[in-house]
Amino acid sequence: MDNQEQKHQRRPRYKGTHPKAFKDKYKELQPELYADAVAKVIEKGNTPAGMHRSICVKEILEFLQITPGQTGLDATLGYGGHTLEMLKCLNSKGHLYTTDVDSIELPRTRERLERLGYGPEILTIRQTNFSNIDQITSESGPLDFILADLGVSSMQIDNPERGFSFKTEGPLDLRLNPSKGISAADRLKTISQEELYGMLLENSDEPHSAEISRAIISAIKKGTDITTTSQLQQIIKDALKFIPEKDRNDEVKKSCQRCFQALRIDVNNEFEALYEFLEKLPSAMAEGGRVAILTFHSGEDRLVKKSFQRFYREGIYREIAPEAIRPSAAECNSNSRARCAKLRWAIKA
Ligand SMILES: C[S@@+](CC[C@H](N)C(=O)[O-])C[C@H]1O[C@@H](n2cnc3c(N)ncnc32)[C@H](O)[C@@H]1O
Repeated sequence: MDNQEQKHQRRPRYKGTHPKAFKDKYKELQPELYADAVAKVIEKGNTPAGMHRSICVKEILEFLQITPGQTGLDATLGYGGHTLEMLKCLNSKGHLYTTDVDSIELPRTRERLERLGYGPEILTIRQTNFSNIDQITSESGPLDFILADLGVSSMQIDNPERGFSFKTEGPLDLRLNPSKGISAADRLKTISQEELYGMLLENSDEPHSAEISRAIISAIKKGTDITTTSQLQQIIKDALKFIPEKDRNDEVKKSCQRCFQALRIDVNNEFEALYEFLEKLPSAMAEGGRVAILTFHSGEDRLVKKSFQRFYREGIYREIAPEAIRPSAAECNSNSRARCAKLRWAIKA
């Protein structure tokens, strides 16, 4: 085919002021080129596609008191928002180590940070679980400051191909690192009703665990493959038909949120990883070292609180946050994803 015949492919046009589908949001997905469009999305209190808005940045930096020359760890790199702020505090002196399991987003964040001038002389990025913090410290030595901003990034939630949200159609995957372990769809294929019931209850305090686990297992027994986010959402919806109509939509939405969260925690072994990280923390920290942890649901917060209190009682931490710090009302208004965040901290003796 000669060039004359080759049809010029128009870039997909923005439908209305904002396209709905993630893949069509090309402006938000290229913030370097479309800063104005991205700023408008943020102004409205939303998170631009392909981006993550870091939470409690001011509170975290105030607590960590990072000074040039220190060595620290950002255990959850994500979009690199907190990392960037920590790097600014180091002012080209010292070293920041970062970890994340996400094989898709990590290279993008690395590239963004490199473009901003942060290379291996100041920043080490490792694709690994933060439960391997001891491997990091065998290289870095004792850490002066540590941050873990738990859970998922907005890039992960918003990308329908990763299956984190029931709000968009996609494969029921839910893995933070899709090249490791098994997807949520595969997990459901072999799970027993009892185990599923326990998972929904323990991981998300789901009040309708009995009805939902019964419905899922019965669908699987009848030969239904639950391979997409909308298939699972439909089963949950059907299982909750007994709820009076006036409350049903709201309840279904909350149960979907909780069930997806429970599955995500399970396929990524999130509680096990957090427990191991918390156990290894004291020996990873320098004397007087500071750790801050942001959690997003009660299961995570309970683990952090208990661990900090235990090591405080044992004299290993000299001070811990008396209670969880919540993001300001202004931050919650401007970023709805901040609403359930809780920040706890500890200082090593
Ligand atoms: C809330 S996001 C972090 C956002 C980041 N603080 C920022 O400002 O852009 C959480 C990140 O932690 C990662 N993550 C979750 N559990 C992890 C684990 N056990 N080990 C390493 N990374 C983990 C996720 O893949 C995700 O990228």
